[in-house]
Amino acid sequence: MTLRFKVQDEDTAKKIILTPEPGISTEQRWENESEWLKEYLFRFVDADPQATFVDFGCGIGRASKVLHELSSELEVFGIESSFEMRDLARKYNPSYMFHLLPDFCGLFDDEVDFAMALYALQHVHGGELQKTIDNLYRVLKSGGNLFIINMKGRAVPQNTFYEIEAQKHGTLNEVIHHIATKDSKGAWYDDGLNVMEMLKEKFGEPTLIEPDHKLVGEYTRNHHDFVIFRK
Ligand SMILES: C[S@@+](CC[C@H](N)C(=O)[O-])C[C@H]1O[C@@H](n2cnc3c(N)ncnc32)[C@H](O)[C@@H]1O
Repeated sequence: MTLRFKVQDEDTAKKIILTPEPGISTEQRWENESEWLKEYLFRFVDADPQATFVDFGCGIGRASKVLHELSSELEVFGIESSFEMRDLARKYNPSYMFHLLPDFCGLFDDEVDFAMALYALQHVHGGELQKTIDNLYRVLKSGGNLFIINMKGRAVPQNTFYEIEAQKHGTLNEVIHHIATKDSKGAWYDDGLNVMEMLKEKFGEPTLIEPDHKLVGEYTRNHHDFVIFRK
């Protein structure tokens, strides 16, 4: 079962995508972190301005828009499970080289030069996480990079309770535990899965990235892993 955020408009979507952090609004984060993304991604686009990218959990296409500002010849596959996010993404990044997909189906093995999952894997339900990591590996060309920004800890949404309930028959005991306490918790829960360890299992050790302190806030830096893996 997959998370499907319901969002009415671009502003609401942005607030879900980059939540405010202490002293920094969504709008400031959007502007600053997109600028940092541009600085960081420049080296990869500069090396191959016609490269193929996959942006898993692309939201409304923040990173895809940055990529197309760097080179209009890049081909970007944005994978996004929310219908509304996909609709908004089409408006936010109208490039005809930006293709929106609900999942990895349709992408070939070894098809893309570069993959990324920015603030996305922390929200993927436990029952889907391994499959998602396997797909990121599968679609990436040998020697290709996987860029990850991921929250330390997990933030699986509670409002998909019935979908999580369906996983009771699987092996996710941690999920079951948190279902038991769901009424007393907020909108999110931690199912105990360790995304970074699962990624390392598949890709090996990553290289750590140090984001620009002027553009990426202290809270965001402290609470997320910024890494790059290589296939
Ligand atoms: C916090 S947002 C980040 C969006 C974007 N990566 C960015 O940095 O602007 C996480 C996105 O991942 C999407 N997502 C979560 N689980 C997903 C899944 N299983 N498949 C595809 N997208 C998913 C959500 O719908 C949401 O739009």
